[in-house]
Amino acid sequence: MTATSWAETKLMRGRTLRVIAHDPLPVDAEGTPQPLPADFVMGIGGATETLLELTPRRHVGRALDIGCGSGAQTLFLDADRIIATDIDERALAAANASCHLSGFRRLEPDVWRNGDTLIEFRQGSLLEPVEGQRFDLIVANPPFVIEGVGHVHRDSPLPGDGLVRDLLAQLPSHMNEGAVAVLLASWMHPADGDWEERLADWLPDEVSTWVAQRDVLDIDAYIDVWSADAAVPPAERLLWRARLEALGASGIGFGWIVLHRARAHWSVIEDVSTASRVPDGDEVLAQLAAFASPPDALTLLGRSWTFADTHWRGPLALGPVEAALLDEVRTGATIEAAVAAVATRLPVDADDLLALALAWARDAALRGYLVPA
Ligand SMILES: C[S@@+](CC[C@H](N)C(=O)[O-])C[C@H]1O[C@@H](n2cnc3c(N)ncnc32)[C@H](O)[C@@H]1O
Repeated sequence: MTATSWAETKLMRGRTLRVIAHDPLPVDAEGTPQPLPADFVMGIGGATETLLELTPRRHVGRALDIGCGSGAQTLFLDADRIIATDIDERALAAANASCHLSGFRRLEPDVWRNGDTLIEFRQGSLLEPVEGQRFDLIVANPPFVIEGVGHVHRDSPLPGDGLVRDLLAQLPSHMNEGAVAVLLASWMHPADGDWEERLADWLPDEVSTWVAQRDVLDIDAYIDVWSADAAVPPAERLLWRARLEALGASGIGFGWIVLHRARAHWSVIEDVSTASRVPDGDEVLAQLAAFASPPDALTLLGRSWTFADTHWRGPLALGPVEAALLDEVRTGATIEAAVAAVATRLPVDADDLLALALAWARDAALRGYLVPA
C-alpha cells in the first residue's frame, strides 16, 4: 500500500455533514487528466450522488454498504449497526479516514461509533464478508463499468454484466422481511434481442424488483463516457470495444435496481430516461408501495385523488380527455364523478370514456402521479 495523503471533500445532506477522504484526480502540470491508477479511490462522483439521493433515509436496525470506497454512502446511513465492505485495502483506509475526519470515535481497527451507530469495515468481495447475515437496508454503488480497463473502483470484476446477475441472485438471502436494497447497475443491450427480456430472466422470485433504466448508450459513446476522466489510451479503447462486440452488446443501459422483500410480489422493468430527476429515498419507497398495490377498478373510480404536479418522473403527458379528467380530479372529484362531468363537456362515447379514464388513472396511480387524497 502506498503512503497516502487524502483529498477531503465536505458533503452535506439535510443537516448531516460528513468529510470524505479520497484520492484527488491525477492531472499533469497543465491540468490535463492523467490515467487513473488501478487502485484509485474515487471521491463524490455522479454515481455516488445518485445513490445518496435514491437511498431511503429511515432508521433501520442493520444496514450494509457493498463496495464502500471512500465511505460516502456508509457515513450517511442511519442504522444501529452498519457493515461496509470493499475488496480494496486503500478504499477501506479512505473509509476509515472519512470516519476520523467526520468526528466518529474509533473503537478498534475498522470499527467506529457515531452516537448509537456502530460501523464496521470488512475487506472482501461483494457479499463474501457478510455470509449468512441479513440486513434491513442494503446499498451498493458497485464497480459496474462493463469490460473496463481494470480500475478496481469502477470496473466490474465479472465478465460482461455478470455483476448484476450475481447480485440479483445473491442479495435476497441477505434481506430481512421488509428490507430494501438499492443498487446502481449497468446492463448490456444485446444486438440480437431485447434488454428487458434478458434482465427479466435474472430477477429473483423471493423479492419484488424495480429496474429503472436512466439512459442507454451505444458502445462507442459508452467507452467515451468512461474514458474521459480516466484518460484511457486509444489502443485500450479499441480492445474495450472489441470485448463488448464479442459479448454481443450493441449498447449499455444503466440506472438503478431496487429490491423489496415484502408479502406482495411484483416486478417492473422500465425506461425512465424522460424523468426530470432521480427520485429521493421517500419517493422510492412511495413508488414501491404504488407498485405493490395497484388499485382495482372500484377503488380507482370511487376515490378522490391528489395529483403530484412536481414529480420526479417529469410532467405527465395528457391528451385532451385526460386533461379534462384531471381538471375534475383537482377539484376533489372521484374518477367516477370526473367521468360523468367530462361526459357532459366532450363528445366522447360514455363506454370509451370510462375505459380511457380507468386506464389513465390506473397508470397514473401505478407511477405515483395519483395518490389517494
Ligand atoms: C463505484 S465505487 C463506489 C464507492 C462508494 N460506495 C461511492 O458510492 O462513492 C465501487 C467500489 O467497489 C469496490 N470494489 C471493486 N470490486 C469489488 C468487489 N469485488 N467486491 C467489493 N467491492 C469491490 C471498489 O474498490 C470501489 O471502492
